Amino acid sequence: MKTILTGIRANSELTLGNYLGALLPMVRLANQHSEDMNINIFVPDLHSIIADIDGNLQKNIIRTIKYYLAAGLKTNYNVHIYRQSYVPAHSELCWILNCVATMGEASRMTQYKEKSDGRESCNIGIFDYPVLMAADILLYSAEYVPIGEDQFQHIELTRNLAMRFNHKYNKDIFTVPLKTADQVKFMGLSDGIRIRDLLNPEKKMSKSTTSENSKIMLDDNPAKAAKKIMSATTDSLAKIKFDMFNQPGISNLLLIDALVMDVPLQDVVSTWAGETRYGDLKKKVAGDVSAMLSEFQSKLADITDEQVLDLFKDGEKYANKVANAKLEEVQEMVGLR
Ligand code: TYM
Repeated sequence: MKTILTGIRANSELTLGNYLGALLPMVRLANQHSEDMNINIFVPDLHSIIADIDGNLQKNIIRTIKYYLAAGLKTNYNVHIYRQSYVPAHSELCWILNCVATMGEASRMTQYKEKSDGRESCNIGIFDYPVLMAADILLYSAEYVPIGEDQFQHIELTRNLAMRFNHKYNKDIFTVPLKTADQVKFMGLSDGIRIRDLLNPEKKMSKSTTSENSKIMLDDNPAKAAKKIMSATTDSLAKIKFDMFNQPGISNLLLIDALVMDVPLQDVVSTWAGETRYGDLKKKVAGDVSAMLSEFQSKLADITDEQVLDLFKDGEKYANKVANAKLEEVQEMVGLR
């Protein structure tokens, strides 16, 4: 059976960007494919510690999985939920891949450049985390990895490392994940998703942005979230059109509404074609986002820690079995066994 795999760091609450860009697409794919594919959803807790943790890491880890459940994830026997650090093979394979990856390619990662900001004091984890991400994917032979656009470069790196390793040892040990363009198609989209910062729509919406009105958090009071949409930056062109380059603020609102309402972006764009009143668009998006948050938050309140811990118990048994078998193959190939 083929595998769909994804993970979200547990540094803090999640943003609407995480939700619409990665979490919701994964939930939709999981519910669609859990009869015919393995669905691996894990919390990359080792990735979380490359940056500051807002709150308590243990609580954040559990909450991250609760978010998937509140978004409608159905858990059946093909759905595997686990914590990265409970499967030591991830770190082992990361080290082996470190010896295949180059300084040049790791230095070119945009996330590394942004997160390190040229500081010599930046920790080595920030530099190495895409290689750990490659290990996360390759251990489970996952072909499908639903993620937001900011992570695309890491998928390309994963593909390169897998192909280089297979070539070096002259054996197809690793399954190479699909190219990002094909990942996007598998997610049922025409482009990767990048939800923008509400006040600075040239940038992506990010947990680490300090300005409260720039981002919507999944735990935001729905009325507060609606106000943030109402105060989103737009432009003075007075036409509602999807054009991320010239009208990123308006385009962001159209994209958010399409994803929240689960309708094709093109349909939302056609509905607003010829309209000029930005206030009307904002009101519609604010209403849809706040309704979505209300429903999501009421479901979230009903999910217990024990439910999540039970899922981890089964998921980690499965993950260790699959990951250790792949690691052993790799260790044999490299000569470590
Ligand atoms: P992380 O935790 O930074 O982000 C989690 C997911 O949310 C997506 N995302 C967005 N999508 C659209 N618009 C935004 N504004 C936005 N902000 C975040 C990200 O693209 C991501 O899909 N390295 C990864 C976690 C990871 C992983 C993996 C993912 C570790 N190992 C293996 C997939 C497979 C990360 O830091 O994501």
